Amino acid sequence: MKNLVLICGGVSPEHEISLRSAKNVLKEIDRSKYNVHVVGISKSGKWLEMDEDSLGLTIPETGKSVSIKPGSKDCFSGESAFGEIDVIFPILHGPNGEDGSVQGLLQVLDIPCVGPGVLGSSVSMDKEITKRLLNAEGILVADWILLRKGDNIPTYEEVAEKLGDILFVKPANMGSSVGVTRVSEAGEWSNAIDEAFLFDKKVLIEKCLVGRELECAVLGNDSPRASGVGEVQSGDVYSYDEKYADSSTAKTIIPADVTSDELMALKRTAINAYKALECTGLSRVDMFLEKSGNVLVNEINTMPGFTSISMYPKLWMNEGMSYTQLIDELIELAIANHG
Ligand SMILES: Nc1ncnc2c1ncn2[C@@H]1O[C@H](COP(=O)(O)OP(=O)(O)O)[C@@H](O)[C@H]1O
Ligand SMILES: [Mg+2]
Repeated sequence: MKNLVLICGGVSPEHEISLRSAKNVLKEIDRSKYNVHVVGISKSGKWLEMDEDSLGLTIPETGKSVSIKPGSKDCFSGESAFGEIDVIFPILHGPNGEDGSVQGLLQVLDIPCVGPGVLGSSVSMDKEITKRLLNAEGILVADWILLRKGDNIPTYEEVAEKLGDILFVKPANMGSSVGVTRVSEAGEWSNAIDEAFLFDKKVLIEKCLVGRELECAVLGNDSPRASGVGEVQSGDVYSYDEKYADSSTAKTIIPADVTSDELMALKRTAINAYKALECTGLSRVDMFLEKSGNVLVNEINTMPGFTSISMYPKLWMNEGMSYTQLIDELIELAIANHG
């Protein structure tokens, strides 16, 4: 039996998604192999020992607090010590969870941790750094301009002249479409910029990509492998509600109906992006396929959703892997990478 700590919740706006993912992992994880302790992070950042049977969609602000003491494997304690920990599974999305911060904290504990490490997590969280690294590797991305807090904000017309009439405004570090706005006229401009700056000090303005939105699941350390691809068919923005509620305006198709050449190009791009961004363990690479056949990377998610309707586990299930096997492999990869 391995002693596992699953961490969920967190301070980012994706708190609830993390808990939905965590509940699903708890339902599917092989109990004959893992003894699971659940640690919840409240919205204000309190770490609490959770009773998994009463885990809801919000971590409360009070409860049995958890302390962490680096220096031995017996480093987590709640009301009592958790025992020697073999592996940690942080199912946290967004800033202060998926961005290398928690990964750094856990690295100090010297215990295997599921998902990319500090560098892969942090560069993949920042959409601008992601683009620069992918560009350097010759991987296509949507043209963009960067705005930092305090910069003079260009007018819509100035940007539209460079990038086209339809623009995407988004915080550099966020997820679940929080703060993302599609702008097609000057009247929408300042609200979109203000909205994105609510979530980050860096805001990207991107050219609108026209094509099919396709996602690929990548799994592995030194020789990562790519799943088939899934397609997202949504409104103009694949929105928060469409991602997590049963939506009538969005659907996901697995496997996507693509030619074998397209599939090869998508899988190759996904693996190249994964390597360029120093990812290990897992990541989901989100791409656009243009009519011309060009594949562009929109973003990479180092801790993609694991809810019952999430693309990452579904893509592997389509390859014949069960959810339980996927969790096993993620844990094995964490242990292998740690050595
Ligand atoms: N440049 C773009 N062109 C076309 N659609 C985009 C573009 N950027 C984002 N989108 C749409 O908005 C959604 C959310 O944007 P994304 O960059 O993936 O942010 P998040 O990290 O919040 O998921 C995408 O899934 C896509 O539907
Ligand atoms: Mg996205």
